[in-house]
Amino acid sequence: MSTARRKKIYEGKAKILYEGPEPGTLIQYFKDDATAFNAQKKAVLEGKGVINNRISEHIMTRLNAIGVQNHFIKRLNLREQLIKEVEIIPLEVVCRNVAAGSLSTRFGLPEGQALPRSIIEFYYKDDKLGDPLVTEEHVTAFNWATTQEIDDILATTLRVNDFLSGMFGAVGITLVDFKIEFGRVWEGDFSRVILADEISPDSCRLWDTISSEKLDKDRFRRDLGNVIESYTEVARRLGVMKDMPTVIQGGLH
Ligand code: TMP
Repeated sequence: MSTARRKKIYEGKAKILYEGPEPGTLIQYFKDDATAFNAQKKAVLEGKGVINNRISEHIMTRLNAIGVQNHFIKRLNLREQLIKEVEIIPLEVVCRNVAAGSLSTRFGLPEGQALPRSIIEFYYKDDKLGDPLVTEEHVTAFNWATTQEIDDILATTLRVNDFLSGMFGAVGITLVDFKIEFGRVWEGDFSRVILADEISPDSCRLWDTISSEKLDKDRFRRDLGNVIESYTEVARRLGVMKDMPTVIQGGLH
C-alpha cells in the first residue's frame, strides 16, 4: 500500500494510526514530535520516532513472550509497526515505584523517594480536561471500563511493572514510573482487554541506577538537553541499537 493513499484513522501528538492491510489491523507511525504539558510545549526531536518504534517493539515482543497480550504484530520499517486494532479504553494507567512528577507535587514527596509499594493510578484520557486523575468509581460510573476490566488492567499493569523493572534493572536503569494504555478486542459478543499504545522513554521515567541521571522525556519537559542521546542510551542498553541505522546524525524521515 502506498503511503500517500492509505487512510489516516487517527493522529495523536506523537503517533499516527493508518488503516492496516487487513481488517482488524492498523499501522502505527511514530513521529519525531514531542509535546509536554498538554501540548503547550512542542518540539521536533529528530530520530525520536525511529528509536521509540524500536524500543516499543522490543518491549512489546518480550511482554508477549511472557504472556502479556498486546497489540503489537510486527515492525514494518523504521517508523511503523503493524498492530491489532483495538477499542481504546480512555484511561492512562500510571504505575509508580519511586516518587516523581505529579505524585511528588501532589503529596509533597521528594523526587527519588522510594514508595512503600507500587502505586497504580488512573487518569481520564481527555486533552481538553488535561487528563484528570480519577478513581475506580468514576471509571465504572461513566462506563469507561467494567469492574472486571479494571481487575484485568490492574493485574496486567503489575505484571508489566515487575517485568519492566527487572528488564531495566538488569541494564542499570531504575524504572521510576510509567504510563500504559489498554484496548478491547472483540471476539463475537465477548471482548478482552490487551495492552496497546507504546512503551518507550516518552512514557516511562528511567533513571540511571548509579548516577540518577534522567534518560527519559523529563529531559525534554525540564529542558535538560541531550534528549535523543538519552533515548539512544536506553536503546543501546536494551540491545536494540545493533541493527539501527545512524539516526542521530539526522536526516531520517
Ligand atoms: P506524571 O508524574 O506527570 O503524572 O507522569 C507519570 C508517568 O506517566 C511518567 O512516566 C510520564 C508518563 N506520562 C505520559 O506518558 N503521558 C502524559 O501525558 C503524562 C502527564 C505522563
